[in-house]
Amino acid sequence: MSAKVISVANEKGGVAKTTSTAAIGSVLSRMGHTIILVDLDPQSDLTISLGVEPKERNIHDCIFEHRKLKAWPINENLVLVGGSPELTPIDFLDNLKKDEEYQYENPRMIIKHLLEQAKQKCDYIILDCPPNLEIITQNALLASDYVLIPSEAHSFSINGVENIIDQISRFKKKANPDLEALGIFLTRYRTNTRSHEDLVEYFNKNHPDIFLKTYIHENITIQEATHSGRELEEHDLFKKKKSMIKKKEPFKGLQDYRSLVNEILNRI
Ligand SMILES: Nc1ncnc2c1ncn2[C@@H]1O[C@H](COP(=O)(O)OP(=O)(O)O)[C@@H](O)[C@H]1O
Ligand SMILES: [Mg+2]
Repeated sequence: MSAKVISVANEKGGVAKTTSTAAIGSVLSRMGHTIILVDLDPQSDLTISLGVEPKERNIHDCIFEHRKLKAWPINENLVLVGGSPELTPIDFLDNLKKDEEYQYENPRMIIKHLLEQAKQKCDYIILDCPPNLEIITQNALLASDYVLIPSEAHSFSINGVENIIDQISRFKKKANPDLEALGIFLTRYRTNTRSHEDLVEYFNKNHPDIFLKTYIHENITIQEATHSGRELEEHDLFKKKKSMIKKKEPFKGLQDYRSLVNEILNRI
């Protein structure tokens, strides 16, 4: 077994990187795949959104103390390596300098080496990147087989997507020949909105091979799940139990992410 490593990346904040990392991890794990999620953003939103207190078993401790991954269980197939406020680019580079064991290591390869052992123990490792293309995201891109690019459905989003696509091409040429853009997908989509339709047209024209068919709609269940401490599949069950109307099929937000996961699996 060697896990596929997927980075969820875009230099823009608020495009649903964290929401999508959690939702995709949730759906894949309930399908029976074993998953490690890693929170690489010092803001630690992924960790908080899954109801974990990021004091221990966080990425900073894994790198600088344990020298291997340690994770929190979320469900029987899903674990989380927590985020750390000490994982800013400045602190990270500073700590590497102070640490004798890392003196001669390439600072962009630290996370790749950290994941090596864990790759033998699960099906997928998903990395939630911070909203920039600095040293931590560069580490993620060197450690990954694939990059998923969420884009908010707004024409201001084009630059952010183009920049990560450029970065992927550069890394592929110079440092990680295995790296592939797995797909661009739209988040917080609302039908019949002019700026959304313009963006669809742009991606269909400029990136037809990697523009995914599934759109993640603006949806209250998705938003609630992010702020509930429950993963999306669990939140869907919770909501159904509480609802007066008995409902078998999942709420729309979960339907969208299940459809996205199926589309992704067909490309891996
Ligand atoms: N499809 C959606 N519908 C409604 N709210 C969403 C959706 N996707 C994300 N959000 C909300 O948008 C905000 C930003 O999402 P987040 O995943 O934190 O973005 P990023 O990690 O790219 O900064 C969060 O409050 C989240 O709940
Ligand atoms: Mg985030």
